[in-house]
This record gives sequence, structure tokens and C-alpha cells, in this order.
Amino acid sequence: MSSSTKIIAIDGPAGSGKSTTARMVAKILGFTFLDTGAMYRAVTLFALEQKVPLLDAGALEQIASSIQIDFGENEDGQKVFADGRDITSDIRTAEVTDAVSEVSAHAGVRRHMVAKQREMGDKYNIVAEGRDTTSVVFPHATLKIYLLASIEERARRRVIDFQRMGKITTVQEQIKAIRARDEYDSRRQNSPLQQTRDSIAVDTTKLTIEDQVNKIISLFREKTRA
Ligand code: DC
Repeated sequence: MSSSTKIIAIDGPAGSGKSTTARMVAKILGFTFLDTGAMYRAVTLFALEQKVPLLDAGALEQIASSIQIDFGENEDGQKVFADGRDITSDIRTAEVTDAVSEVSAHAGVRRHMVAKQREMGDKYNIVAEGRDTTSVVFPHATLKIYLLASIEERARRRVIDFQRMGKITTVQEQIKAIRARDEYDSRRQNSPLQQTRDSIAVDTTKLTIEDQVNKIISLFREKTRA
């Protein structure tokens, strides 16, 4: 990260509200929103389409090194492109969600993604969100946030997300799926999800999105005023 760019890094478990919050904070501050999870999802999508076994570290690393991931905005939110193709909805399917933790656990995959993320951080003011943006990708971020929420609330949010995509699921089902993903993401050897000592924890269980956004903006203003 170059010292001339400002970085807000937000990590937290699945469903803690990172994406929505980070996107809105970025919009208000005029920063670039960096959804690092979307990048791991893009690699996973290509792996599934190419029928690459999820344990084949070499083949997965090859995809991660060659894939060109770009982000764009429109009135519906963020668009994600891989090698020029719009993959915004393809990366949100249950198949990709089920496989992404395994793909993102490979050190070689992470190395390429982290390099791409840092390149963006060198060029632009960024609000990044993911699992290792505070610990590995941007250890010198201007502001580091750890977003959390109760598992019941996170599951409830996921049910609503899925409903919007036309998929019916239950809170109980989502509690199970989220718990499995949390455990995988937190226990893996490479860059596990963790709250760094210099991250500020924000519990979103009872907060509205606006509350979360305002809180982060005021923390950022405090930091940059000092
Ligand atoms: O935030 P998300 O659900 O889109 O993330 C998808 C997966 O990608 C998540 O299960 C863990 C992984 N991930 C990661 O390992 N490191 C990141 N910085 C972001 C996501």
C-alpha cells in the first residue's frame, strides 16, 4: 500500500453485513469498493466450470494467476467481470458458495488474489472487505473494522438475500451453512478469519445499515482528523 492512498479494511464472518456496509461507505467517501470475496468466488466459478477438482492446488493457482477480474458499478450495485464476462449473478449461486471456502484456502490462490488487491490499494482510496483485509492484505490500513453479528441474525439476512434471488431457504438451514463456512474460514491454515488487535469491533446485530455506515464514517473521520 502506498502511503498516499487511504484504506478502510473491513473483515468479519459471512452475513455480518460487510458488503452492503463497505459499498455504502465507499460511495459516501468517493472511494473504490473492493469486494475480495467476489474475487475468490470468481476463481471458484471458473474452477467449477472447468471441472477442476477443488484439491488440485496447481490448477486452481493457474486460474487465479491468469483470471482478469474487474469491477463496475451500475444503479443496481456492483458488477463483477472475469475475463470480460459479466459474472455478477453466477458467483452468487449455492454451488459457488458451497465450494468457495475450499478454493480460498489454497495458499497459491490467495497469493495471486492478495497481489491484485494490493495493486488496487496502491492506486486508489479503497474500502475493502473480506476475511484477511485487516490482517494480511492491508496491515497498514487507515482504519480496520471487524464486523460481527449473532448467527441467528446473519442467517436471517441470508434468507432474505436468497429470497431476492428467488431461492427459498430457512433460517435453520442457513445457520448450519454459515456455521460450517465460519469454521472453515477461521480454522484454515492460510490467512484465517481473525480479529486483529488493532481492529475496532462493530456488532451489527441490532444496528441498521445506516447506523453501521455512519459509525464507520465517523470512526474514519476521527482517525484522519487526528
Ligand atoms: O464474503 P463472501 O461470502 O463473498 O466470501 C466468500 C468466501 O471467500 C468466504 O467463504 C471466504 C473467502 N474469502 C477469503 O478467504 N478471503 C477474503 N478476503 C474474502 C473471502
